[in-house]
Amino acid sequence: MNIVYDQNTQTFHLSNKFVSYVIAVEEDKYLSHYYWGKKIKQVHSPSDYPRKDRAFAPNPDHIQDRHFSLATLPQEYSGTDIGDFRVSSYTYTDITGLRANHLNYHGYSIFNGKKTLQGLPHTYVKSEQEAMTLEIQLIDSNHGMSAFLQYTIFEDHPVVTRSVRFQNNGEEALSIKRAMSMSIDLPDSNYDFIQFPGAWGREREVLRSSLVRGIHTLDSKRGTTSHTYQPFLALVRKDTDEFSGEAYGFHLIYSGEFLGNVEVDSFSQTRVQLGINPEHFEWKLGAGETFQTPEVVMSYSEEGLNGMSRSFHELYQNKLIRGKHQYRERPVLINNWEGTYFNFTEEKILNMAEISAELGIELFVLDDGWFGKRDDDYSSLGDWTVYKNKLPNGLKALSDAIHKKGMKFGLWFEPEMVSEDSDLYRSHPDWCIHTPGIPKSRGRSQLVLDFSRKEVRDNILSQMKAILDEVPIDYIKWDYNRNMTELGSAAPEIMPGEVAHRYILGLYEMLEDLVTTYPDILFESCSGGGGRYDPGMLYYMPQTWTSDNTDAASRLEIQYGTSMMFPISSMGSHVSDVPNHQVNRYSSLEMRGHVAMSGNLGYELDVTKLTEPEKEAVREQISWYKSYRKLIQFGNFYRILSPYDNKQHTAWIFVDQNKETAIYFYYQIIDKANKPSKILKMTGLDSEKTYQLDDGRILGGDELMYRGIYLDPDLSGDYKSRCIVLHSIES
Ligand code: GLA
Repeated sequence: MNIVYDQNTQTFHLSNKFVSYVIAVEEDKYLSHYYWGKKIKQVHSPSDYPRKDRAFAPNPDHIQDRHFSLATLPQEYSGTDIGDFRVSSYTYTDITGLRANHLNYHGYSIFNGKKTLQGLPHTYVKSEQEAMTLEIQLIDSNHGMSAFLQYTIFEDHPVVTRSVRFQNNGEEALSIKRAMSMSIDLPDSNYDFIQFPGAWGREREVLRSSLVRGIHTLDSKRGTTSHTYQPFLALVRKDTDEFSGEAYGFHLIYSGEFLGNVEVDSFSQTRVQLGINPEHFEWKLGAGETFQTPEVVMSYSEEGLNGMSRSFHELYQNKLIRGKHQYRERPVLINNWEGTYFNFTEEKILNMAEISAELGIELFVLDDGWFGKRDDDYSSLGDWTVYKNKLPNGLKALSDAIHKKGMKFGLWFEPEMVSEDSDLYRSHPDWCIHTPGIPKSRGRSQLVLDFSRKEVRDNILSQMKAILDEVPIDYIKWDYNRNMTELGSAAPEIMPGEVAHRYILGLYEMLEDLVTTYPDILFESCSGGGGRYDPGMLYYMPQTWTSDNTDAASRLEIQYGTSMMFPISSMGSHVSDVPNHQVNRYSSLEMRGHVAMSGNLGYELDVTKLTEPEKEAVREQISWYKSYRKLIQFGNFYRILSPYDNKQHTAWIFVDQNKETAIYFYYQIIDKANKPSKILKMTGLDSEKTYQLDDGRILGGDELMYRGIYLDPDLSGDYKSRCIVLHSIES
């Protein structure tokens, strides 16, 4: 890994064993993008951007050369209204409202390691040898504004991360209206564009389309990342598939409103941007103040989508997720939600716990309904005291009883919300996100607490700490069940344009406090399922509830999409009852198990209603999973067959680091009469090794990967599955 500035070519070259990223300085003032992709040894000549006198392409004031225009230059961080008509990277105004956007190249520094991003989640290094950072300073000398473009390259990952720090060194306040975390102009547009739109119950659908002229946007204006889009996008070559071809992936480490843009310009260049959504954003930057944007991870792979995904999995597992649970095997849990919903008593929970313990389950999670006077979703959010009608002996007694059964105890919270029917709301009706004077929209009959205000966060934090200090709690499910509307704050010092971002900063501050004060607690993030499944939350909570949709067939698509960017160890997946509560579908217990075992296995049903044969099957699933979960949660994961290809099947494989053991899952979604034979090639194995399959067959890694094996022709019926374990043996 190295970062070199070459005076002759006026280029910065960031490289490691996988990738190169090259930035050039043009006309001493402008940063152009020269190259990003497979590693090159050296940059030999200055930027050769084709200069041409193009009609209607303006030339900067001080440049006489009509061949130079910002309208066509491939740039690194473009300005607004200064002759580049594509989407801009930043906009700020002075006190009079005048746009003041002349940020020009000024200087740079290169250092080992990586700085922390104050108050924001970010990738980190444990030693300075793991990464190098380039910081390029841009300056607007009229207004004293500086922007520091930060680029980090890692020793062991095909990844560059970027973010920007604005600094007002002038004497007047400036107002930032747009501050993208990164912008890049790729020299051509011969790509497919992959994005992950979704909705509640069908998160992260894979949408691949040809990239065409125009501006393609994905965003959130919902206060958080939301189910609607993932702050991730990929550009891949037309022939790129799961196994080969170039893939560029971009992911924003942030949990708030975001914007992703892909613009193909008139000359077939492609601009990609990610950052905070400017829609509701306006940040007053006083004299001497700084503003730090969130970080973007940019990965390059020539090993197709699986290669791209592995680079995100490895980076997030090793340099984003933190704390004691980072590499710890995740417990098999039972969650009572789909088993009881709000309708439970202490006795019912203890009965469920009794049977769960017998089945080998390790963690009992008590979901919504244990606090205030919560019998439905109309009341009590904000009142975090135990509901004695349901739990007359309190939480401590329940937790002790569950621990006595040999299980850990986990609890659901939805700390960011308030019900109008709550003591908290009655005492502080102005503590919610709202615009004074404008009627408030409700979502699930609740309001969002104004976490941009410290006193609001402190109140909730002290309520939570009162419980955590008294009750032994091993796990918290942190939920968030509506989107923000009427974005505003009753606190006069918080400007409307700052509320959304200050909210997220406040949330991060509170999470940092909790995860450092209670390092043993395993946190699982949730937002109506996977509505806030983003790398920002992953920095605090190593797991996320992937989706409220627990139907096995639906989960194949959801987990397939989620695996594109998130490591398996982060993915909560549960076996639930049939007919499924979300789609009313029946699928075999085996298939439900095989889908849930492809993530962090849990159960979400009323175990007291299981028949003896079902209990036996569950016991077997759990004991099998325990012996392989390290491989599944922390091994290498490869997608083989997509549920999106004619909705007929899905297959994936988990391989351990040494390629000694592999677990292959095949799912038959819809069966066909007299179906054609199908050979399936494995991937990720060692071609030099010989493997024994658990059905007794012995085959070489090369045979399994290049020739493949037939799918089981006797697997008949819809929603059925097979699992094959492979162990390498002496040949
Ligand atoms: C959300 C979660 C569910 C459950 C309910 C409880 O929808 O995603 O898993 O916790 O809230 O109200």
